[in-house]
Amino acid sequence: MAKPLNIGMIGYGFMGRAHSNAYRKVNHFFDLEHEPVLKAVCARDAAKAQAFADKWGYESIETDWRKLIARPDIDAVDICTPNNLHRDIALAAAAAGKMILCEKPLAMNVAEGEEMTAAVEKAGVPNIVWYNYRRVPAVTLAKKLIEEGRLGRIFHYRAVFLQDWTISTDLPQGGTALWRLDAAAAGSGVTGDLLAHCIDTALWLNGSISTVSAMTETFIKERKHTLTGKVEPVKIDDACAFLARFDNGSLATFESTRYARGHKALYTFEINGEKASIQWDLHDLHRLNYFDHGDESKLRGWRSIHVTDHGGGHPYMDKWWVPGLQIGYEHSFVHQVADFLEGVAKGQPVGPTFRDALETQKVCDAVLSSAQSGSWVKV
Ligand SMILES: NC(=O)c1ccc[n+]([C@@H]2O[C@H](COP(=O)([O-])OP(=O)(O)OC[C@H]3O[C@@H](n4cnc5c(N)ncnc54)[C@H](O)[C@@H]3O)[C@@H](O)[C@H]2O)c1
Repeated sequence: MAKPLNIGMIGYGFMGRAHSNAYRKVNHFFDLEHEPVLKAVCARDAAKAQAFADKWGYESIETDWRKLIARPDIDAVDICTPNNLHRDIALAAAAAGKMILCEKPLAMNVAEGEEMTAAVEKAGVPNIVWYNYRRVPAVTLAKKLIEEGRLGRIFHYRAVFLQDWTISTDLPQGGTALWRLDAAAAGSGVTGDLLAHCIDTALWLNGSISTVSAMTETFIKERKHTLTGKVEPVKIDDACAFLARFDNGSLATFESTRYARGHKALYTFEINGEKASIQWDLHDLHRLNYFDHGDESKLRGWRSIHVTDHGGGHPYMDKWWVPGLQIGYEHSFVHQVADFLEGVAKGQPVGPTFRDALETQKVCDAVLSSAQSGSWVKV
């Protein structure tokens, strides 16, 4: 019998569902020492929290996150709230000695992130941030190929994350679901929301970024605020593009926008090395495109690897179905829970920890600062 590990989750929106699904599934597919127990879900509206608890099988509800953290029957706090609450919840959870699983971006800015990182490290509690794309098997395979030296020296890293859901001028800002357009709740726009994912993957695959040069734009300057009812200035970045230099000498371009008509969540990256190149696309997430210059010339070309094989070659896939059958977006969260629980059992940190996510935060802050000053900024 696996040992229970009691989860207290705060927020039950998009990520609340993705995480709850992962907690429920993980022990059916992975052999682990611990089993997450859905102990309590916290949200401000008791009726809605209860409805969510009934649907997903949470044993109890709270309407005040401080009460949830104070409960002795909660082992781990899962932060699924808008970004402006991450810091306060994480500091309180660390002080209470709870393990913390925090949604990304870690914080509103580097200062908050540093405080949070210091707090979890002082408390010595297991901590992780939900940069889940690292655990899409094709992305994990990319990491493996790079570590094996198959790409050789890396010259270029190219990433985009494109959406189109904020083009309408009628869309309000603030409040439920639209907190992403409100700088007071989100911290930034596409930089912290979407580019943070691209940056986390990039730092993981290609090492540290040393300098950045960025431009941002807010296309719609004023929107009605749902909470105040008034038309207010929009203070988030609607779009951001930046150039970066990595410590390993490679050059990078990153672009994100919510104004790319036709694109809903197009996250792609490409890495060009001396010996080989890699391409990945979230819309086709179970495939990794790979070009190996070492192939015999008459057969040389881009190959599309269907990352579904067993036998240790394709990460995580032996836990799921038979070779050839693919998995999806939600499985990256299951993998993250499995790895986190394995780390807890071994007493070892599992990335991305708060400290890892702080590095992403530093790049985000440097990007926003560069966009404001119009000059290159050191990370
Ligand atoms: N890892 C990913 O790919 C990914 C994807 C989406 C969102 N996120 C991150 O997850 C977090 C939540 O985003 P979401 O899309 O789930 O948002 P959402 O709007 O769907 O849900 C937010 C939840 O927080 C709750 N909440 C707000 N204030 C609260 C309070 N004071 N006390 C308790 N609950 C409160 C809301 O009621 C809601 O249930 C954000 O930090 C976001 O950046 C990560």
